[in-house]
Amino acid sequence: MEGGGQRLAPVAPPGQPQGEHLRLLLRRSQEAKNCAYCPYSRFPVGAALLTAGGEIFSGCNVENACYSLGMCAERAAIQKAISEGHTSFRAMAITSDMRDHFITPCGACRQVMREFGTDWDVYLTKADGTYIVKRLEELLPLSFGPEDLKKV
Ligand code: THU
Repeated sequence: MEGGGQRLAPVAPPGQPQGEHLRLLLRRSQEAKNCAYCPYSRFPVGAALLTAGGEIFSGCNVENACYSLGMCAERAAIQKAISEGHTSFRAMAITSDMRDHFITPCGACRQVMREFGTDWDVYLTKADGTYIVKRLEELLPLSFGPEDLKKV
């Protein structure tokens, strides 16, 4: 389909993705990891973001010789989805090469994810695809978000 998003058929029902939908989300994060540009850290990361409409946008980390300009996989996926008009998200899967540890998003990525709500799920995986699931609220408790700007 146009725009790089892959639509699942049938559209995944609301709530946590199940079965084939979840497997596809996990696989897309692994595929995205294979595209990581990380010559400095040699730490490839892939992310796959499931929109409310059932599309998946993936991202990988993209590093730079000017180190501070590097971009994380999670934010790359979010930027792609937002750029294609999607602002409502249900889940994200994140993958790295760590075999014995679940990948966890950095603080900057948690804040960027939180911009789009606190009640969606993040699948933190090991290299073999096993995972734990955390709500945004758990990953970034007591967070500051767009709603707070309206409280003054
Ligand atoms: N990285 C991500 O892309 N996502 C994470 O969740 C953790 C870290 C990237 C940033 C950098 O390119 C490399 O991994 C090492 O920090």
